[in-house]
Amino acid sequence: MTLSTIIEGQTKLVVPDTGKDIGPASKAKIFYNPAMRSNRDITVLFGKAVAKPGWNVLDALGGTGAKGIRLANEIDADLEIQINDLSEDAFQTIKKNIKANKLKNASASNMEFNALLSNSGYEWIEIDPFGSPVKFVDLAVRRTSKGGIMSITATDTAPLCGAKPETCQRRYLARPMKSGCCHEFGLRILVGNTVRRAAVHDYGLEPVLAYYHGHYFRAFFRKKKGARTANASLENIGYVQWDKKKGYSVHESQPKEDYVGPLWTGNLCDSAIVKRMLKHWDESLTKESQKILQNLDSEISQPPYHYHMDEVASLFESPPQKTDSLVDELRKKGFEASGVHYNRKGFRTNAGLTQIKKLFKKR
Ligand SMILES: C[S@@+](CC[C@H](N)C(=O)[O-])C[C@H]1O[C@@H](n2cnc3c(N)ncnc32)[C@H](O)[C@@H]1O
Repeated sequence: MTLSTIIEGQTKLVVPDTGKDIGPASKAKIFYNPAMRSNRDITVLFGKAVAKPGWNVLDALGGTGAKGIRLANEIDADLEIQINDLSEDAFQTIKKNIKANKLKNASASNMEFNALLSNSGYEWIEIDPFGSPVKFVDLAVRRTSKGGIMSITATDTAPLCGAKPETCQRRYLARPMKSGCCHEFGLRILVGNTVRRAAVHDYGLEPVLAYYHGHYFRAFFRKKKGARTANASLENIGYVQWDKKKGYSVHESQPKEDYVGPLWTGNLCDSAIVKRMLKHWDESLTKESQKILQNLDSEISQPPYHYHMDEVASLFESPPQKTDSLVDELRKKGFEASGVHYNRKGFRTNAGLTQIKKLFKKR
């Protein structure tokens, strides 16, 4: 396999020339996905906004080390970054990347995740697996220090968004829903399951930044200690039900039919963190990363669902409206309303379907 050196952000990265041969089925021995650059840019911005000097950070499933190397190179705070990967080839590449950037604050390790975390702890544990992070979460949450961060990526969109409901049930103990809101429901199932896994170990988790983009889900959690904080987190676990006359509604217990969940019904972002991240954005990062954060910043956080313009228009047997205009009209009528960070045709509002229908212009 040939390696080449590229620049991402302000960092030199030695990566494999894989072309389109990426993902879990890839024949490449080392994993690097250029389409995940927005994920890495946002992780760097998150680190700039949240990480404290002296933090020990573990990039537990590092691949080439792209994410950990960038954290070590691009964040001024005095962080110690350990980048780990089970694969010997990945480990050698991580070492090349540390050398290429002359990093004194980064180290490489070549261990199986469970073995590594059996007796070490960190202020921030980053988990970026192939597919689902579910099998890494229990140990990672236990090994993250109180007040620290655990961050996860999930790319198993088919189960989480309802194309493979049995897999979603097995993996996340939750029922997904195929609808215009399926990606938000997928994100909330992922967050809800992670919070429930932490609660098993008497830890509360607060999602401080969670979003969906393109082909991946991403969530950063702050860890709290004590069964009471776990109970408080669990108060945000519930269900969303669909009714074609009334629209979506939130429930504490499991409805009989047409529901999705259990899922996270609380807020997905700490807006102060998003604002701080936006202040740190600079031209070395992708416009895409800035756009994702700007959209998150302008999005209201509740209710825990949104409507999709085409879906609602077809239900009303009416032509789709301009999403921005409908959001304005809803606000003028005194409802809360905003767009949705990942879908231009999505709108979030506390208005019900009957009230939304009244604002739809006739043909
Ligand atoms: C999706 S890749 C990581 C991508 C990387 N974070 C990036 O931004 O490019 C997942 C990596 O996890 C490693 N891995 C899978 N299972 C592991 C385990 N049980 N312990 C340690 N590493 C593992 C794989 O070798 C692979 O390199």
